[in-house]
Amino acid sequence: MRRRPLRQRQGEITGEQGLARALRTHQVDAIVGERDIMLVRLKRAEDELEMSRDQVRALAAHLLSVRDSERAAIAREIHDEFGQALTSVQLGLAWLLRNLASGQRPLQMKARALLDSTTGLIRSVRHITVELRSGTLHELGIVKAVHAMARGFKDSAGIPCGFRTNAAGVAFDRQASAGVFRIVQAALTNVARHARASRAAVALIANKGDLIVRVKDNGKGISAKLVDSRHSLGIIGMRERARALGGSFTIARAKDGGTVLTARIPLSRAITEIATGA
Ligand SMILES: Nc1ncnc2c1ncn2[C@@H]1O[C@H](COP(=O)(O)OP(=O)(O)OP(=O)(O)O)[C@@H](O)[C@H]1O
Ligand SMILES: [Mg+2]
Repeated sequence: MRRRPLRQRQGEITGEQGLARALRTHQVDAIVGERDIMLVRLKRAEDELEMSRDQVRALAAHLLSVRDSERAAIAREIHDEFGQALTSVQLGLAWLLRNLASGQRPLQMKARALLDSTTGLIRSVRHITVELRSGTLHELGIVKAVHAMARGFKDSAGIPCGFRTNAAGVAFDRQASAGVFRIVQAALTNVARHARASRAAVALIANKGDLIVRVKDNGKGISAKLVDSRHSLGIIGMRERARALGGSFTIARAKDGGTVLTARIPLSRAITEIATGA
């Protein structure tokens, strides 16, 4: 076979190389283009995800505040309806007892027993409405209300509960007070229901611009699985309350046993005034 001139062969090679290079450049361009499109899509998906997260958070905060006002309305109803009715039953029974002839012993005993249970019922209604309305919260302020809750824990759950604070002079707005109160309430309910603890402790500590809300028990300790479970609605609620106030929330098994829960609420966000001299 006759060999073609060198120049011609070189020309062919350069042509092939050029084509290959152009193809490669084209492929690289296509890949880069595709990558850019993917990045744009990814960014959009991230933005959408963040937006839905914000919406879920706003919804959770809204639901919690709706729940609080519903509770307050139910507390009012219970107080007004049951409270009034039970008080008149109590008065009626006391009247009956005073007016029964001394010879009617069995009737007297019955009326006395009924009077005692009515008094007990009135106490329960008061307790329920206070719990529902967090009545003490608005009357006393958050620090004293949480202190009262810790003190009352021994009576309601049979578990002594300590209380510590350096924030006695701190006052919160309604939303922040309700949030902190409900977090401590849900935490202590968990201690009573799940911890098998013999001691609990609550602390409200102002530290570096945050109010640290800590509830600790010496019970069996929460499992890591339950901390992140989507079924742990109580824990999710506490976390959402802390987030709604611009804060953070953690709960874990404590190093020395038991469970420790910490919510950090920014004081800048929560405080409306600092009561002087308190
Ligand atoms: N202090 C604790 N000690 C041990 N286990 C705990 C403690 N707090 C919570 N847990 C565990 O974590 C689970 C989830 O708690 P969470 O408050 O979310 O739900 P719950 O108390 O079961 O129900 P809810 O609060 O909705 O009425 C509990 O069922 C319990 O097993
Ligand atoms: Mg719970």
